[in-house]
Amino acid sequence: MDGRTPLTVSATAHAKVNLHLGCGDVRPDGFHELVTVFQSLSLPTTVTLTEVLRGDATGHVAGLTVSGDSAKHVPSDESNLAWRAVIAAVEAAESKVPRVATVHIDKSIPVAGGMAGGSADAAAALLAAREFFELPLTDDELLGLAADLGSDVPFCLLGGTALGTGRGENLVPVLVRGEYHWALALAKGGLSTPEVFRTIDRLREEREVPRAAAPDDLIKALASGSPDQLAAHLANDLQPAAISLKPELRTTLRAGLDGGALAGIVSGSGPTTAFLCRDREHALDVAAHLATSGTCAATLTASGPAPGARIVQ
Ligand code: C5P
Repeated sequence: MDGRTPLTVSATAHAKVNLHLGCGDVRPDGFHELVTVFQSLSLPTTVTLTEVLRGDATGHVAGLTVSGDSAKHVPSDESNLAWRAVIAAVEAAESKVPRVATVHIDKSIPVAGGMAGGSADAAAALLAAREFFELPLTDDELLGLAADLGSDVPFCLLGGTALGTGRGENLVPVLVRGEYHWALALAKGGLSTPEVFRTIDRLREEREVPRAAAPDDLIKALASGSPDQLAAHLANDLQPAAISLKPELRTTLRAGLDGGALAGIVSGSGPTTAFLCRDREHALDVAAHLATSGTCAATLTASGPAPGARIVQ
């Protein structure tokens, strides 16, 4: 120890829901061509890098810890996406600052739930790493690194509401009026994203599965600020695949609608289900109904759009 106070840098990022997820065919690289509208939700993750002052510490990351409701399901080794994000940022910028960090993730985002929990950790970690290691990376370079880490990571950096194409990494912000309120039902256990994508391919081989039209009306509804209008246009092409892997999601979706939600949808690749509500009170009512329905493991409420990744002072 050299007696200094260790440098600490924290950054936050948020969960997402896909208001529209149009899934095209599988590409030669194994990814699917998407047309999606993301909205970030007020469920944060905070990634903190703390300087290790021991002279014997080597490498850039000395260890990783996780706190929060789903901490025990998150890997705390080099396979963690936040750890990989820090290393990717340092290597891309060839940092000249000889610092070593421990990484701490404090997350309120369900794991393997279709809400970009791991991607939000990675986005916050990229931003924190740029500051901590004083990396000369532009925002565009950070977005490029984000896309290499995962299809949803660029959106978690940007936040707000955005149209995503390609794998979901090409983003254009969407104009939104007002705030939207959601009740979220968490399922028992998660779903594997690759398995959900494989399942939609299989279902499409077996039968005609309807595909969502372009999200033009949804984008108009977002500009109107009316949750009722938005409710009519929520769409997710992955929903039949998620339901085929977890048939109980059908019951959860029905329970949310019985509880008065304006609309319900599987979030991304699932299995979290998201219910659009009129306002905050309504979201609390719908969540309370879902909690007593016995059709889900837990409930949350959230609002969107939430901001993109930010350094926390
Ligand atoms: O990009 P990310 O690592 O989050 O993707 C996880 C997996 O989800 C991919 O390996 C792929 O199987 C599937 N995926 C896909 N098409 C996308 C995004 C993800 O098939 N656009």
